[in-house]
Amino acid sequence: MATNDRIGSRVLRDRVMSAEEAAALIPAGINVGMSGFTGAGYPKAVPLALAKRILDANLRGERFRISVWTGASTAPELDGALATVDGVELRLPYQSDPVCRKKINAGEMEYIDIHLSHVGIFVRQGFLGPLGVALIEVTGIREDGSLIPSSSVGNNKVWIDSAEKVILEVNLWQSEKLEGMHDIYQRFALPPDRLPIPLTHPGDRIGTPYLQCPTEKVLAVVVTDAPDRNTPFSPPDDDSQRIAGHILDFLGHEVAKGRLPANLLPLQSGVGNIANAVLHGLDEGSFEGMTSYTEVIQDGMIELIDSGKLTVASATAFSLSPQRVEQINARMDDYRRSIVLRPQEISNHPEIIRRLGCLAMNGMIEADIYGNVNSTHVMGTRIQNGIGGSGDFARNAYISFFMTPSTAKRGSISCIVPMVSHVDHTEHDVHVVVTEQGLADLRGLSPKQRSVQIIEHCAHPDYRPALREYVRRALDVSPGKQTPHLLEEALGWHVRYQRTGTMRA
Ligand code: COA
Repeated sequence: MATNDRIGSRVLRDRVMSAEEAAALIPAGINVGMSGFTGAGYPKAVPLALAKRILDANLRGERFRISVWTGASTAPELDGALATVDGVELRLPYQSDPVCRKKINAGEMEYIDIHLSHVGIFVRQGFLGPLGVALIEVTGIREDGSLIPSSSVGNNKVWIDSAEKVILEVNLWQSEKLEGMHDIYQRFALPPDRLPIPLTHPGDRIGTPYLQCPTEKVLAVVVTDAPDRNTPFSPPDDDSQRIAGHILDFLGHEVAKGRLPANLLPLQSGVGNIANAVLHGLDEGSFEGMTSYTEVIQDGMIELIDSGKLTVASATAFSLSPQRVEQINARMDDYRRSIVLRPQEISNHPEIIRRLGCLAMNGMIEADIYGNVNSTHVMGTRIQNGIGGSGDFARNAYISFFMTPSTAKRGSISCIVPMVSHVDHTEHDVHVVVTEQGLADLRGLSPKQRSVQIIEHCAHPDYRPALREYVRRALDVSPGKQTPHLLEEALGWHVRYQRTGTMRA
């Protein structure tokens, strides 16, 4: 593929330069908005060149840091490379990189963990300060200067609209046939000028296929030819399969009761083993004509599209295994009919999620006996990844599921606890808790009734006696009987684990 075929604009062709030259245009101390969402569509060359520049500065005894804003998590060539050289002052809105995690938990990097749907609004309102440079991977540049987005859209439109300057990476590895798959909504506004977003079905197209960027903003164009970071797919383990089984039984039951249509409602699925197991289970099950309104398209979604069970999937990014990427790239024309990639302001928009009635399925670290969920902090203080889009979906879903194995660390710690050590999703946003042990449907239940469901259906049998005993004593002595607690003991569960390595009573 000749570079010129991908860069139609003559003006922008003249701005092609090396990654090192482009990185040299990024000043220290600024906010940089980068493309990228779960390892798809992130810039592959300039962050590495910038990390080298930062390392050289460090060696000279100079401090060189930038703040990195993205769509969500990215890849070692971006988050890992910049964090390794201590180049990141502040990171937002979601990360899952081990080096970043270490630096954040050591107090060496600031991290703002916010709902993905809030990022664009915060930037437009000015809460996050000026955006110096937008560094965006694209599939190509058209003759008129408009941009063909890449394998993720994320916050790219916000970054391009808001940044003083833009650096583009044109990645020849991305399939040209991505053109036409995107739907970029152009009419974002802040109150009081907001209008209803006219999307009433996951497959609706309400924007244009291209990103618009004034050519005078573009500082540099860098040509790359590098794959996305696609994580190999591992077959679902036993716990994931059991969790998936409980969810499928529950969905069947809801259809039988007339509370869900036969083709269900648009599915939102977090990433990872459990989410993929649920999708795999749906592929083997009897539901037909399903749809998906979600953040990322993972392998399980493609299987469902291939089998004809999923008619349309809307997301902001791909998150695929290397095998699936090859398949998608070879048959992009087919998939363009059933997949729409949108800005994350739209994929995660509460108004749309509530209107469509999504079935939201997300992972968690722990839940408490009353249904509060911790998705982000191990033992209450150490960040694992971030809230991502789970809050956007959970609060607005028709049914919000939270899933985890009942124990962590080889059974030494219970994922069902008296009181979560950190709250991301309150009892008001959590409808169904699922572990390999079973499923607790919390809808329509009071806190005390919920505690019975969660302990008896979701906690591991080894931990049930201690949890039952906790509730019994809390009911006895707690000054309030609405949500009975033994406050010192509740957090003592976590403290005891930190001291002894086990939570068992
Ligand atoms: N107490 C202590 N540690 C726990 C724990 C608990 N209750 N539950 C899990 N952990 C530890 C695991 O042992 C593991 O530690 P390790 O990295 O040292 O092995 C780590 O936390 C991650 O657990 P794991 O089971 O591998 O997580 P996962 O891949 O299933 O992901 C979340 C679970 C919650 C971290 C993940 O779903 C997430 O980041 N969610 C928030 C964002 C989100 O929901 N995104 C989708 C929205 S669209």
